Amino acid sequence: MSDDAMSSQLANGSSAADQGVVGQAEAPASVVNTPHRIVSPRVISISSGKGGVGKTFMSVHLAAHAAKAGQRVLLIDADLGLANVDVMLGIHSSGTMRNLLTGTEPLEDLIVHCPQGFDVLPGGSGLYELTNLNVSEQQTILDSLREAGEHYDLILIDTAAGIGDNVLYFASAAETALVVLTPDPTSLTDAYALIKVLSQQRGVRRFMVLINQTDEIDGHITFKRLLSVTDRYLDVYLDYIGHVPQHPSVRKAIQQQRLLNDNDPALRPYLDKLFDHVLSRPRDASRSGGLQFFWEHTLSAGLDDDSDEVSVNSSLQAQSVS
Ligand SMILES: Nc1ncnc2c1ncn2[C@@H]1O[C@H](COP(=O)(O)OP(=O)(O)OP(=O)(O)O)[C@@H](O)[C@H]1O
Ligand SMILES: [Mg+2]
Repeated sequence: MSDDAMSSQLANGSSAADQGVVGQAEAPASVVNTPHRIVSPRVISISSGKGGVGKTFMSVHLAAHAAKAGQRVLLIDADLGLANVDVMLGIHSSGTMRNLLTGTEPLEDLIVHCPQGFDVLPGGSGLYELTNLNVSEQQTILDSLREAGEHYDLILIDTAAGIGDNVLYFASAAETALVVLTPDPTSLTDAYALIKVLSQQRGVRRFMVLINQTDEIDGHITFKRLLSVTDRYLDVYLDYIGHVPQHPSVRKAIQQQRLLNDNDPALRPYLDKLFDHVLSRPRDASRSGGLQFFWEHTLSAGLDDDSDEVSVNSSLQAQSVS
């Protein structure tokens, strides 16, 4: 999409998400919807370059939204070592991903059935050995999830922030990568870095983008800044899902270890609309194997190219302060 087209949408005040705004005029052939019926669960990773932007908050509410709509949902806390989905939901688990890796507990015993109507696979906190899974540990998790996938319609993977190996592994293991950022210049620059590494090293071409803690105009401006550099330097397709305003009810709900409810009406319309957009997007037939595929895909990682690094970062930073 050209800057002019995006500018005119900004000018007439209509929502990019309403109009199905995408990062390029045409999606690459690999992400065009096909008539094939996909029966495997939809797998969406929720990632960010910079930490603390709202990934886990979005993940638990997206899980609850989909469950309320009748989907069978598994939320995987893949922020291994610093997991906090269980804390945010106020749930307790007997074991974590470590038990899975040591073979002391099967996956089905680790999954927690939440009162909110979805299942959670807890990640484990304070477990340094989980922060960089080796290849055989990744394979163990993949094998378990491949089996578990049969029981779900939607698998959400809440990853750690940044571009560490675990993040790249889980994000490229998903059918769709959802990137969360805020208008903060560092968050924007780090989101670009994540998209760059995932596209160049892991072959991920399609990204959903969600801008948190902002208003509609700043959300569009932030997306446009990101788009201007990805369009110029990367072969990716960005799908703007929308924005979520900053609101004190989020902090209050997190402190009380609960989800937003009917007593917190401020953000509900934003979240409902946003999550409807996420769930109504067409499946990506090129990455439709559920979890099984990505393994081979991940192994065929390409090499990085840092040649454009300096100009991209200065471009993002210059735009962020303009
Ligand atoms: N829309 C919002 N309005 C107000 N505060 C928000 C909003 N979204 C997130 N926050 C605040 O940001 C904090 C971080 O949120 P969250 O834990 O979901 O981020 P994260 O990206 O998962 O962090 P990490 O990278 O550490 O995993 C929350 O504790 C909350 O206080
Ligand atoms: Mg988190």
